[in-house]
Amino acid sequence: MRTILISGANSGIGLKIANKLLSEGNRVSLGVRNIEALKGTIIDPEFWPKNQILINYYDALDDNSPQDWISNTINQFGSFDTLINCAGIFSRVPFLYNKKEKDEIYKTMKVNFLSVWELCRLSWKNLCLSNNGRIITLVSMSGKRSKGDLPAYSSSKFALMSLCQTMRNKGWDKNIRVTAICPSWVNTKMASKVESIRKDEMTQPEDIAELCSTILKLPKQSVPFELSINCNLEI
Ligand SMILES: NC(=O)c1ccc[n+]([C@@H]2O[C@H](COP(=O)([O-])OP(=O)(O)OC[C@H]3O[C@@H](n4cnc5c(N)ncnc54)[C@H](OP(=O)(O)O)[C@@H]3O)[C@@H](O)[C@H]2O)c1
Repeated sequence: MRTILISGANSGIGLKIANKLLSEGNRVSLGVRNIEALKGTIIDPEFWPKNQILINYYDALDDNSPQDWISNTINQFGSFDTLINCAGIFSRVPFLYNKKEKDEIYKTMKVNFLSVWELCRLSWKNLCLSNNGRIITLVSMSGKRSKGDLPAYSSSKFALMSLCQTMRNKGWDKNIRVTAICPSWVNTKMASKVESIRKDEMTQPEDIAELCSTILKLPKQSVPFELSINCNLEI
């Protein structure tokens, strides 16, 4: 059994990961912006044993919330050994952005990259103490190659991939293993406006949850650093 922090757990990939890991008996500490919105969902705390689930306010744009979330988790569970970073936003701001779009570039870097760094930094001591820590981060194929005209999103994910590599190196001797999950389109709210591929042909969020579950069961010598998941051929 692991004790797992999951950001962005109220929606899409994070929601399916949380449900899967709860159903396997892990303890989860979920970071969400709107706690009320969990009512009636598959991870409504009403449906799970009280000692297995903790819901916390977490907003990547609120600099106090990561430490509060971590402190709550320690108060409730005593320790944790796993962090899963799912919170993220998409941005269509183009290379030739206009003045009004500049704030969105900063926001995308903050939510997708800087706040993940902060959460990992603040979690590091506890992950080291566990002597068997895991970090799983939803990067993207956009963190491996630039396609189209999406420099804000893509740059934030390239930066995130670099962070994952640094953490892999830094955490190796502490038995922390890091995995960067890099899907193309996944059938969630984020991909709802995509018309180039049918929704049922996209990777499903349940498939990513299945992969996370497997990664967390693997011994440290077999944890993959990177998973590239294409739902369509890219050549
Ligand atoms: N869907 C895809 O095609 C795809 C492909 C590759 C990678 N990814 C990555 O996978 C991750 C999960 O995305 P998804 O597909 O599950 O999309 P989603 O359904 O839109 O979920 C995004 C999650 O991020 C949360 N979030 C957004 N801004 C936040 C903030 N300021 N503070 C805290 N949480 C915030 C959202 O919370 P609210 O509901 O409160 O907004 C939501 O829980 C993201 O990092 C995304 O970049 C997605």
